Amino acid sequence: MVSQATSQNQLFGESVSISGTTYETDTMTNVTPKILEKVGKNLHNRKKHPLNLMRWRIQNFFNDNFLKGRTPVFSVHDDIKPVVTLEQNFDSLLAPADHPSRKPTDSYYVNSSYMLRAHTSAHQRDMMKSGLDAFLLVGDVYRRDEIDATHYPVFHQVEGVRLFSQRELFSNVADPTGLSLFEDGRKTDHKQAIHTMESAKLVEHDMKSSLEKMANHIFGKDIESRWVDAYFPFTHPSWELEIKHQGEWLEVLGCGIMEQEILKSAGVDHKVGWAFGIGLERLAMKLYSIPDIRLFWSEDTGFMSQFDVDDVNTPITYKPISQFPQCSNDISFWLPDGYSENDFYDLVRTIGGDLVEQVSLVDDFCNPKTQRHSHCYRIVYRHMEKTLTQKEVNVIHEAIQQQAADLLGVEIR
Ligand code: DAH
Repeated sequence: MVSQATSQNQLFGESVSISGTTYETDTMTNVTPKILEKVGKNLHNRKKHPLNLMRWRIQNFFNDNFLKGRTPVFSVHDDIKPVVTLEQNFDSLLAPADHPSRKPTDSYYVNSSYMLRAHTSAHQRDMMKSGLDAFLLVGDVYRRDEIDATHYPVFHQVEGVRLFSQRELFSNVADPTGLSLFEDGRKTDHKQAIHTMESAKLVEHDMKSSLEKMANHIFGKDIESRWVDAYFPFTHPSWELEIKHQGEWLEVLGCGIMEQEILKSAGVDHKVGWAFGIGLERLAMKLYSIPDIRLFWSEDTGFMSQFDVDDVNTPITYKPISQFPQCSNDISFWLPDGYSENDFYDLVRTIGGDLVEQVSLVDDFCNPKTQRHSHCYRIVYRHMEKTLTQKEVNVIHEAIQQQAADLLGVEIR
């Protein structure tokens, strides 16, 4: 530990700044500059990123299926900073003192009071305390791990929590007199000591049917699924939901009936609730056939452009991008009356075919004197099997310029 602490101080000196806040380093500090580079990237909020598509599939499911009048029941929180206290990440969730995730080898510590959250559950108690009964929380989480095709020390989760008052939980029961949420009972495999059997069973049923429907919404209505018993310090009972994907059982999420002690510490001990946590990367990899988790961090347009869809439910099968280099050329022209961008995109695709990886508008200019508009587009060319020479690209690029002038009436600048 001591030698590690010394080396960390060499990395940061006496303090480290994370998204605008300064933290003193100490012997616990084990975050690295490389990891801190990821803080604030918020891939889940980046439009048309596969993790953003995944997150919207989940969010849309809750928005469309849980409504009070016209208002979604679940509020959504997607920019809560990932630096949390150890108390939030562990103690507030009843993680035992010897829980493996507390080890400095498993989590990223900013210092002995703060860490990068290891799961979005870290915010459960505080969100409930602030008065929320139903919420989704989307965020980046950090765990020390090897890096390979399926492991990366930063990934993304969606957390969901749903609380019920006595009246809400029993609202569909014909005669709820005599039913109660709580009793002074015994803990069994099926319930906590303080919950009555009927409240535990109703919460379990509401949770399981909601989450099964969500899995169907994401992976299709015909998929097979099953519930597997699990253990989490913050829920009892706890389960994992698995689905059959391409012949193999795939774990989709963890969930359970929230420990009443956590609700109590949030000041909502008159309610009961369920919670779940779902990791986005693994699911997106299965759903889109993305072979390597590192690709989510790729800035390569060959990766990103494959997820450029307007409807988040569009089926996408990722095609490996070429190992060969890109070549990018710009084209600028004055727009004629009635110009349509999509006509230009089609023309580029028609001439360039699969050699065109991406076309994007990089500049939109209006001449203040003449009020004429001009556009500049960047066209990225890449061949799947070989390195394109600039000469080969120029031939195609000139053909695009020529035809844009002839067919669309643009005036090349
Ligand atoms: N936090 C858990 C994890 O990262 C996932 C999880 C399990 C979240 C059960 C929950 C839950 O809210 O109830 O592995």
